[in-house]
Amino acid sequence: MNVIQVENAVKQYKNGVQALSGCSLYVKSGEIFSLLGQNGAGKSTLIRILTTYLRPTSGTITVLGKDICKEAVKIRSQIACAAQQTSIDTYLSLEENMLFQSQLYKIPETEAKKRMEQLIADFGLNQYKKYPVSSYSGGVKRRLDIALTMMSNPKLLFLDEPTVGMDLQSRIAMWNMLKKIRDDFGTTIFLTTHYLEEADHLSNTICIMKDGKDVIQGSPLKLRSFLRQNTLQIQFRSDMEAKTYLSSLQEHFPQKAICIKNTAVTMITDESRVDMEQVIRFLLEQHIPFYGIEIAQPTLEDVFLWMNR
Ligand SMILES: Nc1ncnc2c1ncn2[C@@H]1O[C@H](COP(=O)(O)OP(=O)(O)OP(=O)(O)O)[C@@H](O)[C@H]1O
Ligand SMILES: [Mg+2]
Repeated sequence: MNVIQVENAVKQYKNGVQALSGCSLYVKSGEIFSLLGQNGAGKSTLIRILTTYLRPTSGTITVLGKDICKEAVKIRSQIACAAQQTSIDTYLSLEENMLFQSQLYKIPETEAKKRMEQLIADFGLNQYKKYPVSSYSGGVKRRLDIALTMMSNPKLLFLDEPTVGMDLQSRIAMWNMLKKIRDDFGTTIFLTTHYLEEADHLSNTICIMKDGKDVIQGSPLKLRSFLRQNTLQIQFRSDMEAKTYLSSLQEHFPQKAICIKNTAVTMITDESRVDMEQVIRFLLEQHIPFYGIEIAQPTLEDVFLWMNR
């Protein structure tokens, strides 16, 4: 069953900006679904619509089988959302926050205490429960914020960039927490991220979005195999050099999808040997100072760059 169905969603803000322009996507029950897209692609707008905070201009959208416009109140009682700015009260401790949250959701006190203890134990947060939330690092605060949202036992959890700005250790702790939420609590997770390796590692399904529209959706494996071709990676000494020679390569090979990836220029190729010979000949003839060239399997990053080229 799809817990989220978005068909042809359009959102035009009052200032005329069209943030969504016919976006469609489907989220299955019990999965981690990652929405990937560059800045301004429309990810947060879509989250705000799905969490009933904003209304779409048009489109058919259901969340947990309910129409987003007609049954917003029912939807709200079954979902939770951790926006990019944490909503946890930093003057209170985690326990105080959790008990306060349970009052908002009218959970009886004994049940609330039981649930609180269980969440703290399950997520290994014992050491963080007593002191004001403000005394912990950004990464821990975000985990506490998510533990707090689990107090209402949501069927569906929305997370807008849950690991942005975190170091690797905090991100790994967050990934483990999200997997636990999916596997042990059966909660469906809808998240946005800029980190491709995160989407690859965590998600059952990934949707890449561009200019307010979905461009491709599928499992990480499916997305990688979508580019059945190989890539040619032409290495330069710096990203500045790669940028300088990108346009010469694009002009000389107009039929090819060519984009930039750090210090390399990447070309999608279905005849890698032939293309490699031609590229090397061109680089040598033009005296372009490349550093190395290799044939490589496409990564998720290549798929992303290819979709956003
Ligand atoms: N409240 C608003 N009023 C007008 N325009 C807005 C509003 N919020 C967002 N936009 C515009 O809508 C477009 C999509 O923005 P959105 O925040 O949904 O993108 P995003 O994919 O979340 O980007 P980021 O990765 O930077 O968070 C952008 O052009 C943005 O400037
Ligand atoms: Mg955003």
